[in-house]
Amino acid sequence: PRSIYLSRHGESQYNVEGKIGGDSLLSPRGMQYAKALPALVTESVGDQTLTVWTSTLKRTIQTAQYLPYTKLTWKSLDELDAGVCDGMTYEEIEKQYPDDFANRDDDKFNYRYRGGESYRDVVIRLEPVIMELERQENILIVGHQAILRCLYAYFHSFPQADLPYIKIPLHTVIKLTPRAYGCDEARFALPI
Ligand code: F6P
Repeated sequence: PRSIYLSRHGESQYNVEGKIGGDSLLSPRGMQYAKALPALVTESVGDQTLTVWTSTLKRTIQTAQYLPYTKLTWKSLDELDAGVCDGMTYEEIEKQYPDDFANRDDDKFNYRYRGGESYRDVVIRLEPVIMELERQENILIVGHQAILRCLYAYFHSFPQADLPYIKIPLHTVIKLTPRAYGCDEARFALPI
């Protein structure tokens, strides 16, 4: 059976600083993850073929750089657009946009950043990606937290309200194997 592998990019400079969005490079730890990823992936994939999909952002491309497979970048896989809050920390957002911060907490799925996107918007923008995923064999997506939450929720049929809270840890590969009903799941965490 074919599998879909999901991984966030390695830890980025913005992750270290607690800033959201942006297009920062990987931190030294993130680079360690990028270097360790090929062994982990090839062990699970064996001699089957695999195609790697990344976003257009540097941190996913950097994370995938050592993988010995065909790679494709998708603009639709870019992280949820935080609009005017892009590049800020959650603390800064709470101070500068207290109402927005509270509204997001009330309804995280539907909350749309000023000049940016909501999780609902992202689910819609991912439709073509999911259509293509359904037609493909083994795919590894090196993506972003919000994006992987949407894809994970799709394959596990999670309710929308829970989707923005799904835990997708850094430095972990999630292997989903679709079955007649639902998906089998395995996780491989790298101690980085
Ligand atoms: O902090 C990393 C990040 O991917 C941000 O770029 C993004 O805005 C955020 O996580 C999404 O998580 P949440 O919806 O919980 O804020």
